[in-house]
Amino acid sequence: MYDKKNVGARKRKPGKNKKIRIRWDRIFILTAVIVLAAMLVVLYKFFDSEDKEKPAGNPSVGSDSSGTGTTPTTTTTAPPTTTTTTTTTTTTTTTEPPPLYPVKADIQVIDGVTYINGVIIVNKTYGLPEGYEPGVDPVAHAALEEMYAAAAEDGLSLWTASGFRTEEYQRNLYEKYAARDGYDAADTYSARPRHSEHELGLAFDVNDPSSDFNDTEEAKWLYEHCAEYGFIIRYPKGKENITGFMYESWHVRYVGKELAQFIMEQGITLEEYFGITSQYSDASGEVQ
Ligand code: DAL
Ligand code: ZN
Repeated sequence: MYDKKNVGARKRKPGKNKKIRIRWDRIFILTAVIVLAAMLVVLYKFFDSEDKEKPAGNPSVGSDSSGTGTTPTTTTTAPPTTTTTTTTTTTTTTTEPPPLYPVKADIQVIDGVTYINGVIIVNKTYGLPEGYEPGVDPVAHAALEEMYAAAAEDGLSLWTASGFRTEEYQRNLYEKYAARDGYDAADTYSARPRHSEHELGLAFDVNDPSSDFNDTEEAKWLYEHCAEYGFIIRYPKGKENITGFMYESWHVRYVGKELAQFIMEQGITLEEYFGITSQYSDASGEVQ
């Protein structure tokens, strides 16, 4: 009879049987032990390192939130470490910048002529002495010619309708307006004698001294460029209560480039710049 057991025994090699048998139970236990040991090592390292790092590494303990304090140090040697936390408190005080104007005004009256910080001043408050007739100022006139030349290059024609005026000329002009419109009205657009900038030789009426000039290309050019040549629009729109005169788009006053540029950029008047008034001592009426 055919013996199954014997057949199988004959086919297998006895030496190989032992090697092929895998003891899964032992492998599992060994693996579990290794894994557990590894976990213990990892856990130990983790807690150990956390304890060491805490004092220096935690911003809430050691570092200054402002970034300006000192970082505390901890040592393991005796005596026990002293932890010092320096807190810097920054107090921000908001201070308003000083106003650009009015400037500190040094008012000097020399021979009846008023100078403020070296700038000759004439308005309703500050008059001129009798017989003051300097003629046209040569520096202002040269600047005016330069300005007219620049306007011509831009295709615009500017000319002088009225420049220097004597006291007598200003008196006749003012009286003529007063006779036509009354003194109160005349005072809003014409200076009384010895109170006009035209009597300084530093003021000029450009082109057309009337409101018709206001919206012309020439008036716009004059407004935009006059300061480059040292002139200001002396009686600006909206400043009537400050200058004492109605808006005159055509009347320019020479003050020098630096002051002119500041005043025009700020959109102010000489009165605001120096912090001065422009009011006649008598409210209105005939010239005394
Ligand atoms: N029109 C200006 C104010 C003057 O008469 O001087
Ligand atoms: Zn004028």
